[in-house]
Amino acid sequence: MTQKYKRIAVLTSGGDAPGMNAAIRGVVRTAYANGVVTLGVRRGYNGLINNDMFELKSDDVSGITGRGGTVLFTARSEEFQTEAGVQRAVKACEYMGIEAVVVIGGDGSFRGALELSKHGIPTIGIPGTIDNDIACTNYTIGFDTAANTAIDAIDKLSDTSQSHERCSVVEVMGRRAGHLAVYVGIATGAIAVLVPERPYDIEADIIQKIQDGKIHGRTHNIVIVAEGVGECRELTKIIQERTKMEARETILGHIQRGGAPSARDRVTAARLGRHAVDILLEGRVNRVVGIQEGDMRDFDIAEALEMKKDLQETMYETSRILSLSM
Ligand code: F6P
Repeated sequence: MTQKYKRIAVLTSGGDAPGMNAAIRGVVRTAYANGVVTLGVRRGYNGLINNDMFELKSDDVSGITGRGGTVLFTARSEEFQTEAGVQRAVKACEYMGIEAVVVIGGDGSFRGALELSKHGIPTIGIPGTIDNDIACTNYTIGFDTAANTAIDAIDKLSDTSQSHERCSVVEVMGRRAGHLAVYVGIATGAIAVLVPERPYDIEADIIQKIQDGKIHGRTHNIVIVAEGVGECRELTKIIQERTKMEARETILGHIQRGGAPSARDRVTAARLGRHAVDILLEGRVNRVVGIQEGDMRDFDIAEALEMKKDLQETMYETSRILSLSM
């Protein structure tokens, strides 16, 4: 192992995701095991710009693995998107003796990391977002917990829909991606899952299915709409008008980002945190770490940002096939 780094920083940026704390702990403890000092940066890139950071000792990350949110706070920094902001962040790193920065977040956060690396500060990205929309990893920190939270909420909605013989139209998060919607749709037995990556036909994919279901005695339905589709309210009205079945919309919103991380999120985050520091100490920098088929991997940041992640076709098809009850 080549080890030239003695002092690094870690920050969380963009939307928070359950498991970020476990990743912070993974970074801090691995650094500590190798005699490296870690500074925790508050509020994402804003903390770098404003020199808002503190030493994170090994003891400081005790007891955070099971906590949702991020103890470092997070932000989407507008200032860091300007050259002046980046320059201030670089100066703060130099002043504080920071030799490398570990960034936990999504693709916007990795674009920031790429910018820092272009200005001479080595970086490593760890994918943390409930959207699971980072191409170089099968799985992002927070996705599993968010899916479980949404599933739990939809199971509850299903009870009241069953009692009132209604259709529940539920919007789940995901920004421009439908990974969370498809996963949750399969797990809750939704009659339809609408995602921004695939075209849909309201008549064939929803109205007809509800009407056919009615004829065969089906009294309630769940429709999942990814937020990137953006028509939840309108769709609910159309369903009620056309099927004469009462329909209610529910936007799950930010509740999906909270809560104690699942076992899977905790363990994956811990492994990714460790891998991030391991490769840094091996001298492999400006990379994004990920998990593929259970193994740790890493990719050049610029290449990782170029990679596109489409919906997993088999998952989408599964959600469609399993929704056909007659
Ligand atoms: O990227 C995570 C995410 O929760 C998206 O699913 C959602 O579109 C967005 O962040 C919401 O962002 P904000 O917290 O700024 O409302």
